[in-house]
Parts: sequence; C-alpha cells; structure tokens
Amino acid sequence: MKARVIAVVNQKGGAGKTTVSMQLAGTLGRRGKKVLVVDADPQGTATRWAASAPDESPFPASVIGLGAANEKVHREVKKFVRDYDYIVIDGPPAADSPVAQSALLIADLALVPVIPSPLDMWASLGIRKAIENAVDLNEGLQARLVVNQCQPQTSLTREVLELLPEFGIPMCHTRLRQRTVFRQSAVFGQTVHDFGHKAAPAIQEMDGLTDEVVALLRRKRNGKKG
Ligand SMILES: Nc1ncnc2c1ncn2[C@@H]1O[C@H](COP(=O)(O)OP(=O)(O)OP(=O)(O)O)[C@@H](O)[C@H]1O
Ligand SMILES: [Mg+2]
Repeated sequence: MKARVIAVVNQKGGAGKTTVSMQLAGTLGRRGKKVLVVDADPQGTATRWAASAPDESPFPASVIGLGAANEKVHREVKKFVRDYDYIVIDGPPAADSPVAQSALLIADLALVPVIPSPLDMWASLGIRKAIENAVDLNEGLQARLVVNQCQPQTSLTREVLELLPEFGIPMCHTRLRQRTVFRQSAVFGQTVHDFGHKAAPAIQEMDGLTDEVVALLRRKRNGKKG
C-alpha cells in the first residue's frame, strides 16, 4: 500500500480547506479506505473537528497534528505512506509558509478551494505560484480548483465562474454550494453523510468530488499526467 497524497491548500483564510479536507477524508473513509488527515494548520481545526465526533460514531479517518513540523511536513508524511490508502493534508492559510510548500512537495494532487468572488480570487493567486514552484521539484503534482460556497443564482458568481479558467489551474466539475450542513458537520465531528435525507444535495456534491479525486489519482497511477 502506498498512499496517494492530497494537499488542500490556499493562502486565503476561510476558503474551505478544512471543510474540503475533512469531508473528502471522511467520504473516502466511509468507502472503506484507510485515510489519514494531516492537520498542518497550527489552528488545529481539523483535529478539533474529529475530536467533536461522538464516541459511538468516531470520525471515519485518523487525524494527526503536524502544524509545528514547518518545512519538514513532507518528511513526516513520508513515514505514514505505507500505512494508508489516502493522506489528506489540511494546509494553513498561507502560500509562502514552509508548511504549505513542504506539503506540495509530497502531494500527488493539490486541491485549491476557492470562493467565487473577486476578492477571494485575487487573494488566492499566490497559491498558483507556490504550485508552479512545487512542480519544478515534484513533477507528477496535479492541481485542481474546487469551487466552494457557491451561490449559482447570483450574476456575480456567474461572472467569476466565467473568469476562473484564466486562473491557470483546471477546475473540478463538482462545485460545493453554500449549505448549512457543511457547517454543521464540523460541530458534530461528522461528514454530510451523517445528516440523512435532508443533506442529499450536499452528499451528492461530496460523492461527486470524491469520485473525481479518486479518478485523477488513479489516472496518475496508470502513468498518465493530468
Ligand atoms: N460549502 C460551504 N457551505 C457553508 N459553509 C461553509 C462551506 N465551506 C466552508 N464553510 C464554512 O466557512 C468557514 C471557513 O471554512 P473552512 O474552515 O473550511 O476554511 P479554511 O480555508 O480551512 O479556513 P482557514 O484558512 O482559517 O484554515 C467555516 O465556518 C465553514 O464551516
Ligand atoms: Mg482550515
């Protein structure tokens, strides 16, 4: 077993790194995969998320805190690759931090959550440079934007979505809409799947995003770069 490593990064605070990391890791865990979340953010949000789960229904992935490992995150992560199917690194809100750069060195896939608003897009530009720099050292690194907190009914959102291809990183087809259940999941230490029928649209989004991520990583394992 050699884990596929997913780094969830964006210097923009609050873009959805922890939400995407935990929902993705939890969805993979619920599918029977062995998943480790590396909480590489000194804020420790992912660690708190998993710790909020009830004893009778623990979060379906392990979480370790490596926020203090700084530029050595990739070396620390390497120690776990034999023991897991997937390792998801929840990055801190800084592109130039040694933690984010180190995570990109060991990642197979960088996921960049972005909120489709002009200010958020501008604030996210630094991560593109960080990914480009990482590709020089980590040739196989793929990258995808994940549109998060989407409110597709607004014309502003539509305009920003039209501009997104110019960002230079391809987009995942699945977009996550702004939904209360994404927030509730963190409070109860769960994924959207634990909220039953009323969460069906959010579940569909997370399942779709997870399918895309699995396919991207499978494609790479078969030797094709994306
Ligand atoms: N799709 C969504 N729908 C509704 N709320 C969301 C969604 N995605 C994220 N949120 C909420 O937005 C806030 C920021 O999300 P999150 O903590 O995942 O971002 P982050 O990028 O990890 O932040 P930080 O940079 O501080 O680490 C949280 O309160 C989270 O619950
Ligand atoms: Mg976070």
